[in-house]
Amino acid sequence: MDNRPIGFFDSGLGGLTCIPYLMKELPEEKIIYFGDTARTPYGSKATNTIRNFSMEIADFLVKSDVKMIVIACNTVSATCVDELRERFPEIPIVGIIEPAAKKVAETCQTGSNVGIIGTKVTIAAHAYKDSISKYNNFLNIFESPCPAFVPLIEEGITENEIMDLTIKYYMDGFVNDNELDTVILGCTHYPLIKKNIARIYPGLTVIDPSSIVVSRIHHLLEDNDMLAVDSDFTNLFYASDLSENFLNMIEHIFEEEEEDKKVKFLNFDLEGEVK
Ligand code: DGL
Repeated sequence: MDNRPIGFFDSGLGGLTCIPYLMKELPEEKIIYFGDTARTPYGSKATNTIRNFSMEIADFLVKSDVKMIVIACNTVSATCVDELRERFPEIPIVGIIEPAAKKVAETCQTGSNVGIIGTKVTIAAHAYKDSISKYNNFLNIFESPCPAFVPLIEEGITENEIMDLTIKYYMDGFVNDNELDTVILGCTHYPLIKKNIARIYPGLTVIDPSSIVVSRIHHLLEDNDMLAVDSDFTNLFYASDLSENFLNMIEHIFEEEEEDKKVKFLNFDLEGEVK
């Protein structure tokens, strides 16, 4: 048993899409979440910048005594999961890409046309493609960056015409020209537009890594005897800039459990000190 919280982080509110799945599958687990809303988006930044930001945040989570870190960000997972594991060898670090890639490799039929959408950094790193081909070389993999999705989602522009047009702009040719049967949402912000994608492309199977990562967390905690039991820790959500949308998302996640969370503002200065 280990009642310490699990640390989650993302460039912004996208990683929050993992939390309802966690609460459903592992209701005893508590959370410290950090959304780097002041510096989002990460997906078009240099890899060194993403690495430095991620080290700062992981350092903060380790100092906050989390029992595990979940990189609820594909861009960070694609950039520096190995470096994070090297720097913090004492703590299990779960990236979001590998569990979803394994599941796709195991469940998609031979010859399937699988599309991956994500940030520029995730797609340029071929993170899903490489990970899937470790398990299965008989799928046709296609990749496409969709860089305007994250800024629109951070602004709360989701269920409307602007988002639908943006989806069509990036995805019409990608889905139709490659005759895709499956698409992986390779960015944790994208589950927030999953309904739009499913409506616009009704024949497409949509894979959501934010749900799949929770099974990996479950297995790791179970195998290492680290599941929480009756923890009295209060879930904590930090943002480097407390945007209205971040607050709305948290309200939405906890709508029936008003008391069970605290939201805090926490910033890093350029030297990496916590203010
Ligand atoms: N949610 C991130 C991801 O999964 C973020 C993207 C960004 O900040 O550009 O890749």
